[in-house]
Amino acid sequence: MLEPKPRPDLKLNRRHSQALYRQIAEQIKTRIASGELPGGARLPPIRALAAELGVTRLTVQNAYRELQAEGLIEATVGRGTFVGPETHPSLLHLHLGEQLTPKGVLHDVHKVQQVRGVRNLALASPDPHLFPTEEFWASLEALHPQGSELFQYGPLVGDPHLRLAISELLAQRGLEAPAEEVLITVGGLQGLALIARVLCQPGDEVIIEQPTYLGFLNILHTLKLRPLPVPLDEEGPSLPHLEALLKKHRPRFYYTVPNFHNPTGIRFSPQRRQALVELAARHGLTLVEDDTYAQLSYDAPPPAPLRALDSSGNVLYLSSFSKVLMPGLRIGFVLAPPALLEGLLALHSASDICGPPLLLQRATARFIQQGGLERHLRKVLPIYRERRGALLDALRAHMPRVARWTRPQGGFSCWLSLPAYFPPGALYQAALHRGVALTPGEAFLTQTQDRTHMRLCFGYQGSEALREGVAQLAQLIQEQATRLAQRAPIAEVL
Ligand SMILES: Cc1ncc(COP(=O)(O)O)c(C=O)c1O
Repeated sequence: MLEPKPRPDLKLNRRHSQALYRQIAEQIKTRIASGELPGGARLPPIRALAAELGVTRLTVQNAYRELQAEGLIEATVGRGTFVGPETHPSLLHLHLGEQLTPKGVLHDVHKVQQVRGVRNLALASPDPHLFPTEEFWASLEALHPQGSELFQYGPLVGDPHLRLAISELLAQRGLEAPAEEVLITVGGLQGLALIARVLCQPGDEVIIEQPTYLGFLNILHTLKLRPLPVPLDEEGPSLPHLEALLKKHRPRFYYTVPNFHNPTGIRFSPQRRQALVELAARHGLTLVEDDTYAQLSYDAPPPAPLRALDSSGNVLYLSSFSKVLMPGLRIGFVLAPPALLEGLLALHSASDICGPPLLLQRATARFIQQGGLERHLRKVLPIYRERRGALLDALRAHMPRVARWTRPQGGFSCWLSLPAYFPPGALYQAALHRGVALTPGEAFLTQTQDRTHMRLCFGYQGSEALREGVAQLAQLIQEQATRLAQRAPIAEVL
């Protein structure tokens, strides 16, 4: 067993609304995730830590109990309390942040998931603790009698039951989409990749928002397509900028995320949506609308899709159940008119015989038609709303005045911007060393910026972890600002 550092150096804030035992547990957790307290390290005895922090023994006991329940520490009578053996790596051992490209960051984001105790603000994913596992399992059980049929290859275009369920679901949002136009894809990502391959040849240009979803940038890069970025403000894309681009270029399409955009969380304003659809119709510009987050709307009913505003046929619509339900289902869909559907299917058939497993498609259809999705959303929306509030409160409480951030009304993402205090990737690395994972802004951008940006996600973690993560991040920023001010004073620092 490794000997402990003498003390894990905890700082309690007695004016904080967070209970003292939670503060202790959260801070120890961060030190485990960062590797500062490695597997096997001995934690201070309860009595000693209580005396040092000026709290009761019960407070420390409760903190240790919580860490034990999460499997992070182990207590052995007569020997003491230890960090659990290193069955998972610490953040420091994963070689993260070596590449700030979309591909490099996607790789990091998935590795971070393996680490215990990390404050994971990097994943734009739902919290697995909130998955509707039981109810979904009941849907699977109900399908047991059809077992052998459902373990067959399914139709390439998707299960007819699911196509119908999706068509009915969209009708509730004002979108007329016959089931025959619904193509089931392996997550939203496959839908995007198929569309890009059907519409483009290598070297073609595609308009994107700046910043945009890094998975799509990864597709562009892989298919050798050239991004034309349009800046975003809090109401949506800059339309003068878009018009100017259209005068000079012949883009194959414009990829847009109008509802709770990833990574900024913004929702386009009604005026901007209308104007965007009209502009696209005027210029014959195809809009590829990604509506993956729309139903995660915290302050109002989900906004209508752009496609519902369009009468010109210029809007291609796609979405996914990864965020509103469970990403492991790998179920997404594209609405495709017949000619496009044929092209998508031809491409699809070159890499697979059918889409997501038929059993999962049918179970999802059943789950939706029996009201499971609606019930699930009723349960999780208040929880995500509360987490969004915790993140924004923590940013307000801890961030220096020079920081700016978006106020997402839905989805999982918040976009934080700072003056360029850090070289590219440095803040990301420093945060990982303190047990906090975020997504570096560079992965969502195609042009270098004069500010440091990052995405903070609030769906995957509880409120306590979000507060702790933001507090750690703010401390790093503050330390760097102080260092810079000592070297060459910056007028606006703090
Ligand atoms: C905007 C957006 N579109 C599509 C996807 C793809 O999701 P999946 O392939 O898991 O359905 C994501 C996932 O992060 C996303 O953020």
